Amino acid sequence: MIYFDQAASSHPKPPVVGEAMLYALNEIGANPGRGSHKLAKEAAGIITKTRKTASRIFGCSDPKKVLFYQNATAALNQAIKGLRWSKGDHVIATTFEHNSIRRPLESINKQYGVSVTYVPWNGDESEFLKQIGNSIRTETRLIAVTHASNVTGAVTPVEQIASVANQSDIPILVDASQTAGHKTLHMRNMGIDMMALPGHKGLLGPQGTGMLMIEGDIDLHPLNHGGTGSYSENPGQPSQWPERLESGTLNTPGIAGLHAAMQSYETRNIGNVPRETILSQTVLQGLKQIEGITCYGPDVQDERMPIVAFNVLNIPSQEIAMVLDSHYDIAVRAGLHCSPLTHETLNTTNRGVVRASFSMYNTEEEAEQFLQAIQEVTESYNLV
Ligand code: ALA
Repeated sequence: MIYFDQAASSHPKPPVVGEAMLYALNEIGANPGRGSHKLAKEAAGIITKTRKTASRIFGCSDPKKVLFYQNATAALNQAIKGLRWSKGDHVIATTFEHNSIRRPLESINKQYGVSVTYVPWNGDESEFLKQIGNSIRTETRLIAVTHASNVTGAVTPVEQIASVANQSDIPILVDASQTAGHKTLHMRNMGIDMMALPGHKGLLGPQGTGMLMIEGDIDLHPLNHGGTGSYSENPGQPSQWPERLESGTLNTPGIAGLHAAMQSYETRNIGNVPRETILSQTVLQGLKQIEGITCYGPDVQDERMPIVAFNVLNIPSQEIAMVLDSHYDIAVRAGLHCSPLTHETLNTTNRGVVRASFSMYNTEEEAEQFLQAIQEVTESYNLV
């Protein structure tokens, strides 16, 4: 199969990821931080070194503020719902938000009466930043933005947004779900206060892993309470990081795999244009030459994550994805991609878009086969 659904979950993984997971599962097994025997200590060592590695790679000053969750959605929920909200508070987000930001925001809207302004992002940076600036009110408590659209791959100017936010003393939360592993991210240098990311997408780690990283003094209250392996005599949640926001047994095998994935990322992230970026340009350029194809998102020469979104004639996107799967053995994702606001912006709510997304394991040959398949599919519909 040609797997072009990497933005949903990466496949395959670097072999070291599975090896590290198997070792943690078969040779360690114990509960990190819940005992003083050798195996529990070894498990705790995996957790600690993963916090340190993430803090180094992503420029989060305090490894204790690298928190583990089962995915980016859980991390975003903790960040958003963990703030203290009052009626009348206000949040700024963009029209490119995935439901993993939009739904928690809608939830605090219902629960506390927090209002949200969704600023449209159409690639015009100065207009966009002006609109963000104009949307700031005295009640604005958070700017929550995706770093790149999961539908089109368009990158938002996060550093510039952070600068606007910092000038007004408003914390910024970044959803790096589609940029982590593809693009250098450094919270301190970029002025980011909170950043959420999944382990299983661009970082090529396992499903079931995600992180929330906090920079500075932001105080979050926990969404979950329970055992932390520390301060057990205290009926209240410990105030120490990371225990305050991590209750219950962690996913040690997953976190071991995530650590191996991050080490692998560090060795390949040596300043070259990633292969998946080159592939997305090849595919986008090729699609633009096929009559009947509409492409969405940034142009060929502009920065985009390794995602290409398109439609074939006026055919529903799900139908094209089904034909690619059943006749060509090609996996893509179609529909609304849990991001209805983006589709409203693109005017594609009715039929969605076909999304092809790439990783370093995809090849030029696969890109050529994909373009050939799209050419044939388009021609076959033209004949009908
Ligand atoms: N958020 C993931 C995607 O875009 C699942 O497909």
